[in-house]
Amino acid sequence: MRRREFVRNAIACACIPAAVRLRAETLTTGNKSILVLGGTDFLGPQVVLAALAAGYDVTLFNRGMTHPELFPMLRKLRGTRSVDPAKEDLSALRTGRWDAVIDVWPSEPEMVISTAALLHDRTEHYLYVSSIAAYDVANYAHAGTSEGAKLRAFSGHEEDYGARKAESERRLHALAAAKLTIVRPGAIEGSPSWCSGGLMETWLSRVMDGRQHIGPGDGMDPIQLVDVKDVGSFVAQSIARRTFGTFNLVRDWLPLRDHIQSCKEVTHSNADFVWIPRSFLESHGLPPAAEIGDGKPQFFTGWIPRPAIKGLYQMSNTKALATGWRPRPFAATATDILAPCAVNSPARLAIKETLSSEKEAEVLQAWADLGGHA
Ligand SMILES: NC(=O)c1ccc[n+]([C@@H]2O[C@H](COP(=O)([O-])OP(=O)(O)OC[C@H]3O[C@@H](n4cnc5c(N)ncnc54)[C@H](OP(=O)(O)O)[C@@H]3O)[C@@H](O)[C@H]2O)c1
Repeated sequence: MRRREFVRNAIACACIPAAVRLRAETLTTGNKSILVLGGTDFLGPQVVLAALAAGYDVTLFNRGMTHPELFPMLRKLRGTRSVDPAKEDLSALRTGRWDAVIDVWPSEPEMVISTAALLHDRTEHYLYVSSIAAYDVANYAHAGTSEGAKLRAFSGHEEDYGARKAESERRLHALAAAKLTIVRPGAIEGSPSWCSGGLMETWLSRVMDGRQHIGPGDGMDPIQLVDVKDVGSFVAQSIARRTFGTFNLVRDWLPLRDHIQSCKEVTHSNADFVWIPRSFLESHGLPPAAEIGDGKPQFFTGWIPRPAIKGLYQMSNTKALATGWRPRPFAATATDILAPCAVNSPARLAIKETLSSEKEAEVLQAWADLGGHA
């Protein structure tokens, strides 16, 4: 079975029975009507499921290309969003009112604002999924960045995802600040695991083989993520409580050492991690990624020891927690990620490993030959 088919089937199996049950509740509660722009890839289904679980009546708007078999019982509006007005088709959105509109996925400001301009007068609550990438990079040099921090500049030509998210936020504020909720998730992890960034499955996969592995650095570098289901539940909670404003959505950050220990506990693994300094790893061809998302192989996913960007994994979650939002435990996210593996392959998660076992063994041996001292 091709990966895409497997993803589709896995999501369909996971979502449809719950959705059927929840739709029945919707019919009896007659609760709020929600329009989800997107809704069928990674985060979107969890937003939809959380909204259905809250008893809401959900309508989807998308092209019908990504997992069109999902949510067969929901009303589906079809159209196309585009930065090019000639290619954009929002005609299905020209009529109708919704209690809340959730724009889940785009980063292009033109796309974000054309739908918002069309819809904001016909809803009480407009929610947009941004990202912690929207912050000005200077904020990544320290821990505890909170929602009031400066955002990235946008001059109109940036390819940069974070700058486009930042500009989308600014334009939404100018249009509809009073009815706006913006969520800024950190690295989103969860099921299906191959849609997420690898912060969990890389380490789960390594601990599951029970062998000796490299722990990069001294184990104290931070790592921080958010469960995809927790982003969905925050969105649904915000609608229920009419919570407006901007919110970082991240779990508490952990030292990488504790993150790996949690992976070991979830999988009952006795894998041994040998913590090796960055300088030694670099001299043996295993540097940390230069930048987040620079496209180069990350041998140690989530390991960002550079002082200038360490704070990316130390964002403040104080404001979101103050709303009553409570992230699921580490083990719950891990269990979601491991579920397909438990069903299909008890040995390993189906990840593309960037660090070969031969290279890892070679560097571990070189470190042992030095007596474990650089
Ligand atoms: N992954 C992370 O670690 C991370 C971290 C921080 C923030 N985020 C943010 O989290 C969100 C994740 O979004 P997602 O992709 O999982 O959302 P999603 O809503 O699950 O999937 C994207 C949806 O957009 C629709 N779509 C795509 N192109 C379209 C077009 N041209 N016109 C109309 N609809 C279109 C797709 O359906 P069709 O293809 O059928 O149209 C699909 O339903 C993004 O905002 C991302 O920036 C992610």
